[in-house]
Amino acid sequence: MAKAEDPEAESIRAPAQAGGGAAQDRPYAGTAARLRRPERLVWLEIDRVVPLCLEGLDVATVLDVGTGGGLFAEAFAARGLTVAGCDVNEELLEAARAAVPQAAFLACTAEELPYDDSSFDLVFLGGVLHEIHDVDRSLVQARRVARARVAVEEWPYREDPHAPPLGHQLPPERVEEAAHRAGFRKVERLELKYMVLYRLDV
Ligand SMILES: C[S@@+](CC[C@H](N)C(=O)[O-])C[C@H]1O[C@@H](n2cnc3c(N)ncnc32)[C@H](O)[C@@H]1O
Repeated sequence: MAKAEDPEAESIRAPAQAGGGAAQDRPYAGTAARLRRPERLVWLEIDRVVPLCLEGLDVATVLDVGTGGGLFAEAFAARGLTVAGCDVNEELLEAARAAVPQAAFLACTAEELPYDDSSFDLVFLGGVLHEIHDVDRSLVQARRVARARVAVEEWPYREDPHAPPLGHQLPPERVEEAAHRAGFRKVERLELKYMVLYRLDV
């Protein structure tokens, strides 16, 4: 049977290495429309993920890191939250600005977030961390600008026709160990139908 399309295939420029290894220099190079294709919306379970991110917290402000076309920024804004977003890709940021005009978007890397400490109640990274060159530094930065929680949605570490190849995914222990090193006081992993949500409390 033919293997299903790699859902984030356009993001992959470097060859895969086993175990979510060093070959993570592969920022997404597809379109905003591709990030909003219906099957991807099913996999991401946005309607479930957004309340899980907010659960137990008093959240007014959200930063969506690696916002792409603003899919999650839009979902958080639809709940009446004040949203900011950032990404390395200017074209995607233009699409995000069009989709969520009330949000403040800017270009930067997850490794160098140009925001003050504790600027946002919640910092969210959706389908981004496996593309980021320096996972540890990104989690340190996310924790620095978050007041209460950092939430990370990622592919589970398993062979799955919907998911990127295993070598492009992040093993859960890699995320959790990086989160502990970054100093989060609580590290929680929630298994969703297709994805994994890490809730990292500051
Ligand atoms: C697969 S897309 C996901 C976009 C969006 N979060 C969503 O779920 O629709 C990954 C995004 O991460 C961005 N990205 C990759 N590396 C990044 C980095 N180091 N810093 C900030 N954004 C990055 C890409 O430009 C791309 O928009």
